[in-house]
Amino acid sequence: MLELIVYYLPMPFVVYLLYLLSDSYLVGGLFFLGSFLFLTRMTEIKSDTLRKKIKIVVANYLFLYKTLCFITALAIGLEVLGWGRIIRTPVFLLLSLIFYILLIWRGYQNYIKIKIKEYIVEIPDYDTELNLVFLSDIHLSELRSLSYVEEIVEKVNGLSPDCILIGGDTIDSHMEYIEGKGFDKVLKKMRSRYGIYGVLGNHEYIGDLKKNIEYLERCEIKILRDQSIIIKKLEFIFRDDEANYSRKKLKDIYKSSYPKVIIDHRPKFEEAMSEDIELQLSGHTHGGQFFPVNLGYMLKYEVVYGYKKIKDMAVIVSSGVGAGFFTYRTWSRAEIVKIIIKEKNS
Ligand SMILES: [Fe+2]
Repeated sequence: MLELIVYYLPMPFVVYLLYLLSDSYLVGGLFFLGSFLFLTRMTEIKSDTLRKKIKIVVANYLFLYKTLCFITALAIGLEVLGWGRIIRTPVFLLLSLIFYILLIWRGYQNYIKIKIKEYIVEIPDYDTELNLVFLSDIHLSELRSLSYVEEIVEKVNGLSPDCILIGGDTIDSHMEYIEGKGFDKVLKKMRSRYGIYGVLGNHEYIGDLKKNIEYLERCEIKILRDQSIIIKKLEFIFRDDEANYSRKKLKDIYKSSYPKVIIDHRPKFEEAMSEDIELQLSGHTHGGQFFPVNLGYMLKYEVVYGYKKIKDMAVIVSSGVGAGFFTYRTWSRAEIVKIIIKEKNS
């Protein structure tokens, strides 16, 4: 860990300086490399306070790093256009600083302010109505405060849901990091008519899965793994995350002829498309969260955020209510999703 910090902490500044001094595009290009290696070793740190501090410092540092990457790319662009002198002027540096401050302010606002996003999904011959709340990617960790969890519960209860669906990544990695913080006592205050059911995400698999599931059950979230339940003439299929290599096939889970809703952490739709599914709810992408992660998700997933109708199936991908390691969102906003399911009027 120490090696990583010593190596990476001064790197963007050194490379940025080298770029300005050397006029080399190659050095500028190097700037884009190597910003994610910090993430891999963070869980090895056992001290709660130290881990929290390092996470905050590194996350903010990486934000600066990425912003400098963007500014460098802009500088290269200006150079190519023949306006290279501009990038060495105090005005350019000042504008870069203002851009950085505005970005970090906006990114943090998007991270802490939770909005409510509403959808209406119409299903043919569904002669009743259901009010769902879909909560994905809460990412409980030592970076989150009790008031954040209280706000989620207050907003969810304010929507008076018939049923609350949890889309995975509720725990960021290890329940041990959040033990004793009281998140479980607050989350169990969520209220709904038919219950609170959820799937696992890839992040629950980072720590001890058994302990993480026990923690979620303590929050009174019923975790269903490759199981389905029927609520008000709809069959809800809760798929285990792909991190479980032996998860069941979709066709081996459902059991009724009711219209079907899938809750699957990652927004992949191929299997659901081959079955007769009305709606899939997913999270995982955090709506792209920030540049350049958003580009990776755009290449990998057909829907990174929002609602889309793919043939006859509706999909909703939530940007999630929380985020893990990175305490900013410059490409998406934290959200709680409300979905009204009702009959389609032809
Ligand atoms: Fe997530």
